[in-house]
Amino acid sequence: MSSAQQPQRVLLLGATKGIGFALARRLGSGSNRITLTGRSQSSVDEALSHLHASNPGADVDGFVLDLKDHEAARQALGAVGPVDHLVLCGSSDAAWGPFETLTAKVLEDALSMKLVGYLNAVQGVLPNLAVSGSITFIGGTAARASLSGSAGIAAVNAGLEGAMRSLARELAPRRVNVVSPGMTSTEFWDKMGDRKAEYFASFAAQLPLRRVGQPEESAEAIAFVIANSYVTGSVIDVDGGWHLG
Ligand SMILES: NC(=O)c1ccc[n+]([C@@H]2O[C@H](COP(=O)([O-])OP(=O)(O)OC[C@H]3O[C@@H](n4cnc5c(N)ncnc54)[C@H](OP(=O)(O)O)[C@@H]3O)[C@@H](O)[C@H]2O)c1
Repeated sequence: MSSAQQPQRVLLLGATKGIGFALARRLGSGSNRITLTGRSQSSVDEALSHLHASNPGADVDGFVLDLKDHEAARQALGAVGPVDHLVLCGSSDAAWGPFETLTAKVLEDALSMKLVGYLNAVQGVLPNLAVSGSITFIGGTAARASLSGSAGIAAVNAGLEGAMRSLARELAPRRVNVVSPGMTSTEFWDKMGDRKAEYFASFAAQLPLRRVGQPEESAEAIAFVIANSYVTGSVIDVDGGWHLG
């Protein structure tokens, strides 16, 4: 997607914060047309205002969408018009914790948001997705990390990786990929409050790169898979080496 190419419309679902927002900023600096979503009008307005402030020329708009509200999401996405590239980056409900206490409700919520929510959204956009276009799912290292307490979130992210491999064949020549972040410093972790810095430090100490990731680092990988016309069916790990075990 260099500036010499035709402007591309990129739809970012769940991009008012975190990795999706970093991607909106990254792609908005080119000639792309960006449409982002969040769960409330205020979060969408705030994100758009930050993007316009940092880049007054950016072609960005947005609307409200809850990926968990499957029926409404399908309807809204069916009305967005032509899309070149779709990125699914909405935050998942956390399904972390010891397996023996993982309730069916927690597991269902996580699957409903990220696995069913992402796949349902793809179906909504598909009739309007360019055949030369791409779909990028944001997965997560938990899919393959073999970490105690991660069975729920592993099921969600591994499910996405499996679906991606099937879709890369079924929807070709559209390209379908997963970008898989490791522990990344986004707003998702703000709920930890004062414990966040200590948690990040202890986690980072176990990683080959000895630090947690920044959302811009995942955004750069997503920009790469969108732009590279020969990458499909791939998982790109952006996790400081966490996947090595
Ligand atoms: N951060 C990490 O350490 C990490 C690690 C591995 C994988 N990941 C994956 O990376 C992706 C992005 O995570 P993040 O850390 O960037 O999240 P984040 O900072 O919490 O941002 C989440 C974004 O998703 C939107 N969102 C949340 N629930 C939604 C819903 N039900 N429907 C639609 N949009 C929704 C939020 O919009 P509003 O706030 O406007 O509602 C916000 O724009 C997720 O798939 C996550 O599982 C993250």
